[in-house]
Amino acid sequence: MDYELLTRQALELAREDGWYVPLMANVSALIFEQMPDLNWAGFYIAREGGLTLGPFQGKAACIHIPCGRGVCGTAMALDATQRVEDVHAFPGHIACDGASNSEIVVPLHCGGRVAAVLDIDSPLKGRFSPEDQAGLEALVKALEGVIQF
Ligand code: SME
Repeated sequence: MDYELLTRQALELAREDGWYVPLMANVSALIFEQMPDLNWAGFYIAREGGLTLGPFQGKAACIHIPCGRGVCGTAMALDATQRVEDVHAFPGHIACDGASNSEIVVPLHCGGRVAAVLDIDSPLKGRFSPEDQAGLEALVKALEGVIQF
């Protein structure tokens, strides 16, 4: 997976408009197209102390996730990437799509706070490697420099 190319494509799209709605929509589409073996890729936005569903690709998903709940809420509460090899072994995992077996969630910051999380699900167990984590964290860091809320 060429994360440098993915990041360049995302930054190019952001040059036209950095507003979070089209940027997150297009980044979700790029990830979903380019990463093999995914069933969901998208964003949850920090809102009213929790997370609310944002732009994504995949099946319809749960709309509200409280801070600290599930993989996404844990990433928000701890302000740390969650790379989960087997979601069924993760306490409090929220099953939006029963096909999901592994998941990675990366926090995105604005003004020093978690403003959103990037959430990617796979039907394969252990789909996400440390290299995937590093590539996705670099993508999110690049987005933090250009995104507008
Ligand atoms: N599994 C997530 C919920 C969001 S869906 O994967 C799209 C979680 O436990 O936070």
